[in-house]
Amino acid sequence: MGFLTQISILMLFFVVKVLGQDYEDDYHEYEEEYEEESPVVHLPTFSFMRIAEYGEIYHAYSYECASECFCPSTIPFAMYCDNRKLKVIPYIPAHIRFLYLQFNEIEAVTSKSFVNATGLREINLSYNKIRSSQIDRGVFAKLNNLKALHLQYNKLEEFPSPLPKSLERLILGFNKISKIPGDALANLVNVTMLDLCNNELTDSAFKGRVLGKMKRLMQINLCSNKLKAMPSDLPTSLLYLSLENNSISSIPEGYFTKTPKLTALRMSHNILQEVPYNVFNLSSLIELNLGNNRLTRIFYVSRSLEHLYLQNNDFESMNITLMCPTINPINPNQLTYLRIDQNKLKGPLSTYAYLCFPRIQSIYYGEQKKVQTEVTVTEVYTIHEVAVFPEEE
Ligand SMILES: *[C@@H]1O[C@H](CO)[C@@H](O)[C@H](O)[C@H]1NC(C)=O
Ligand SMILES: *[C@@H]1O[C@H](CO)[C@@H](O)[C@H](O)[C@H]1NC(C)=O
Ligand SMILES: *[C@@H]1O[C@H](CO)[C@@H](O)[C@H](O)[C@H]1NC(C)=O
Ligand SMILES: *[C@@H]1O[C@H](CO)[C@@H](O)[C@H](O)[C@H]1NC(C)=O
Ligand SMILES: *[C@@H]1O[C@H](CO)[C@@H](O)[C@H](O)[C@H]1NC(C)=O
Ligand SMILES: *[C@@H]1O[C@H](CO)[C@@H](O)[C@H](O)[C@H]1NC(C)=O
Repeated sequence: MGFLTQISILMLFFVVKVLGQDYEDDYHEYEEEYEEESPVVHLPTFSFMRIAEYGEIYHAYSYECASECFCPSTIPFAMYCDNRKLKVIPYIPAHIRFLYLQFNEIEAVTSKSFVNATGLREINLSYNKIRSSQIDRGVFAKLNNLKALHLQYNKLEEFPSPLPKSLERLILGFNKISKIPGDALANLVNVTMLDLCNNELTDSAFKGRVLGKMKRLMQINLCSNKLKAMPSDLPTSLLYLSLENNSISSIPEGYFTKTPKLTALRMSHNILQEVPYNVFNLSSLIELNLGNNRLTRIFYVSRSLEHLYLQNNDFESMNITLMCPTINPINPNQLTYLRIDQNKLKGPLSTYAYLCFPRIQSIYYGEQKKVQTEVTVTEVYTIHEVAVFPEEE
């Protein structure tokens, strides 16, 4: 589905953009230090670490590997156990840093397997059959070097707390999570990316200041849940908020004053009817997706905004003066793309739009919804128009 593809592309973009830096730095060092001995290895991960640190350990333990798994000699700290129909997690040797267990039939996470694996940096347990009740309490919390935990596509009903403070990326999409214990997120001070899309979260999951303590959180994905309201208490560090495909009907006045750095907001496929006029007046906002809602009234468009998606709403007119009350040639509006198809517009936008938005490259007007009255169909307009303007010099 186009919508899902968009999400995943954006997610990928963000992961690469936000986290790429770490990986590149570490990778670079690896290359410099080991240019002669080792071929350059392209790991399927963005958090490869400095090999030098572990040189000694490598010599001592490099032969140890679970018999069910594969430990490539070129990637000394990784153990690959993916796609093997495993039902239990094998014993993890102490030197392992990267553990790949995705695509198996694992139902439980037992302390026994992890007893000596305190050096783990990254665990991929996605696409298994793990239920919350089958995770030994505290098994992850003891891994105090763990940076990334992938548990997407399992059968979790609850947030898998407690988790270690060292965690930076937590991927929990496509489970059945409906509960987040009150203190579960409070100690996750280093998490930059939290993915909880496609779960069963309701508004009560975020009651009582659970997110605000995550001081480094940059990206939170809450798409395809059961939220009816905007999550309360977002951290100031947030750059990207994904809330597509929930049942959110309004955004409180001044909601984003808590998140002044917000760069992208994705809220398509909700039931927004009206948003406060000033609510998106954010100096860093670049992308705003409000497609597939029920909006009828336009709002102020901040100067930084580049992409605005408003397709499939209920706009009958779009007052450009309200979107752009002043023209400032020194600090012009950055809007380059505007999508307004599938509304109830009765004619093309005012040409004032091109003065207000001098950078605009495309306004996608597409087809509009047919407007029906009780008695007859009146004034049905379908206008196909894709206006493409050459980029400014
Ligand atoms: C974890 O496994 C999933 C499923 O195969 C894969 O898409 C993802 O890239 C893996 N993550 C890492 C960091 O290897
Ligand atoms: C864990 O490490 C200790 C100390 O090296 C060792 O004695 C023990 O056998 C290991 N546990 C397992 C299950 O291999
Ligand atoms: C959090 O990250 C910082 C910087 O990367 C690091 O110095 C600190 O030790 C981390 N905190 C924990 C609890 O791992
Ligand atoms: C929207 O969310 C529902 C569950 O709330 C899910 O079943 C459906 O697949 C989602 N739709 C898309 C397009 O992701
Ligand atoms: C937007 O915010 C700026 C700075 O906070 C403020 O000066 C301006 O009046 C606001 N614009 C609108 C239309 O609210
Ligand atoms: C657009 O809104 C402005 C300010 O409220 C108003 O003065 C103007 O008449 C409106 N324009 C149209 C075409 O409705």
